[in-house]
Amino acid sequence: MKRLGVNIDHIATLRNARGEKHPDPIFAAKFAKKAGANSITIHLREDRRHIKDLDAKKICKLKNILVNLEISTNSEIVRKALNIKPDFICIVPEKRKEITTEGGLNLIKNKKKLQKIIARFKKQNIRTSLFINPSILDIKISKEIKADCVEIHTGRVANLVKLNKSYSNELKKIFKCSKLANKFGIEVHAGHGLDYKTTKILSKIKEIKEFNIGHYIIGESIFFGLSKVIKNFNKIIKS
Ligand code: PXP
Repeated sequence: MKRLGVNIDHIATLRNARGEKHPDPIFAAKFAKKAGANSITIHLREDRRHIKDLDAKKICKLKNILVNLEISTNSEIVRKALNIKPDFICIVPEKRKEITTEGGLNLIKNKKKLQKIIARFKKQNIRTSLFINPSILDIKISKEIKADCVEIHTGRVANLVKLNKSYSNELKKIFKCSKLANKFGIEVHAGHGLDYKTTKILSKIKEIKEFNIGHYIIGESIFFGLSKVIKNFNKIIKS
């Protein structure tokens, strides 16, 4: 069964716009779980532009909610994450000035560093995932450095679909990477830029077991409500 991870970072973005307490990401995590999210994703960015340390701590302490904490390889953030003890970790690249995570990790450059970080999380029984571009070499390196999962960056395919451009080559890459990762025993996830249409296209790839979706879910919720949007995504992913 495929799973839906709901990224609630932008609930915090909205809260931070006023510098007060509403809307509350902790309430959002509980609400999303009740509405059908299989897990909650939060990204503790180095600049703390949305989720803050206290949010992450409180959300990871919630009972019966699986939390996927996205972090960079920054040593202070890694230490914090080991302390917070989420259920899952997803290591992502991070640039201060980017609007959102622009691409996958550079595994060639950061192989040793990532290997050490993965080992530290795995020692604490925390499922560890790497956010990567759809590249066969990256799948091979992910296996070598013992990642439990890979999350394939779907931003490019999503953009091509939205622009009504040909996306078959990009989809093929994702398909091939998913197959190989699955063969290696690495669980495959997908995320970034996904909406109903792109999720429907990608959900045909049976090796993709988890979708992590944020911005579109929160945006659509303004018009249709969070419960309804989560239900719609579950219908697409699980049918
Ligand atoms: N997965 C990862 C690893 C991400 O970094 C992000 C963006 O924070 C997402 C999924 C969600 O992307 P979007 O907000 O575009 O759905």
